[in-house]
Amino acid sequence: MSAEGTQPAGEAMLRLAGKTAVITGAASGMGRAGAELFARHGAAVVVADLDGEGAERVAEAIREVGGRATAVRVDVTREEDARLMVETAVREFGRIDVLFNNAGIPMPFTPVEEVRLEDWQRIMDVNVKGVFLGCRAAVPHMKRQGGGVILSTASTAGIRPRPGLNAYCASKGAVIALTKSLALELAPWKIRVNCINPVATDTPMLNQFIGGGDLEEGRRRFLETVPLGRLAQPEDIARAALFLASDEADLITGVALEVDGGRCV
Ligand SMILES: NC(=O)c1ccc[n+]([C@@H]2O[C@H](COP(=O)([O-])OP(=O)(O)OC[C@H]3O[C@@H](n4cnc5c(N)ncnc54)[C@H](O)[C@@H]3O)[C@@H](O)[C@H]2O)c1
Repeated sequence: MSAEGTQPAGEAMLRLAGKTAVITGAASGMGRAGAELFARHGAAVVVADLDGEGAERVAEAIREVGGRATAVRVDVTREEDARLMVETAVREFGRIDVLFNNAGIPMPFTPVEEVRLEDWQRIMDVNVKGVFLGCRAAVPHMKRQGGGVILSTASTAGIRPRPGLNAYCASKGAVIALTKSLALELAPWKIRVNCINPVATDTPMLNQFIGGGDLEEGRRRFLETVPLGRLAQPEDIARAALFLASDEADLITGVALEVDGGRCV
C-alpha cells in the first residue's frame, strides 16, 4: 500500500462513515485499491478473494493504519461462498451497506473458433454468475435494512468490444444488462445498482489480456485507443466506486460509468 493510500481522510471528508462494504477480488488490483480507499473513508470492509492469503494481507494493512477490515477466502462462483462473505459482514460489522462485485477473470486474444468451451464457461461463471450470486446473497439483508448499494466492475469491453476477447466482452455486457435490470427491480427498496466500465487498467490482469504476445506492443495497442493518453490506475476505479457507493450518488442507479479516458466516446 502506498504511503498516500494509508492516510486516514479528514473527519469531515469521510464518505462511508458507519457503513460496511463487501468487496470481491479485493486481494489485488482495483479491488484492493477500493478496499483501502473505502476503509480510509470510514467503511468496515470485508476483503473477499479466492486468494485467501492475499486477502488477509490487504485486511491486515488496513487494520495496521487503524481501519476496520476482515478477510474471507471465497470463490464467487460458489453459492455458499457468496453467502459466507455477506454473513461475515453482518456478523462482524452488523450490516451490509455496499456490495462491490469486482472479482473477474480475463482471457487472452483468441479466435472464436479456438475458444475452448470450458474457458468460455469459466469466464461466464466468474464474471456473470459470481455477480448474480453476490447480489442474491446481499439483497435480502439490504431489503431488511431499508436500502443499500450494489456495484460491479464491468468493462468498456461490454460496450465497446475488442476483437478476439469474445467471451470476456460477452460476460461484461451481461454484467451491464444485469445491473440495469436489478436497478429497476430493486429501486422500490432503495437499493441502488450501478457498474463501472474501466478501460485497460494497470493491474496484474492487464498482461493476461495480452497473453503470450509482446507485452510492450500489447500495452501500446491498448493505449492508442485512449484519447486522454494513459491507461487507468486501480485508484481511478476506486475513486469512481467510492462516489457511487456514497450518499453523494443518492439519485444514481442503473448507470454503467465509463472510467476510460474517453475511449468509448
Ligand atoms: N485490468 C483491466 O484492464 C480491466 C479492465 C476492465 C475491467 N476489468 C475488470 O476489473 C475487475 C478487477 O480486475 P483487476 O484488473 O483488478 O485484476 P486483478 O487480477 O488484479 O484482480 C482480480 C482479483 O480477483 C480475484 N478472483 C479471481 N477469480 C475469483 C473468484 N472466482 N472468486 C473470488 N475472487 C476471484 C483474483 O484472485 C484477484 O485477486 C475484474 O472484474 C476485471 O474483469 C479489468
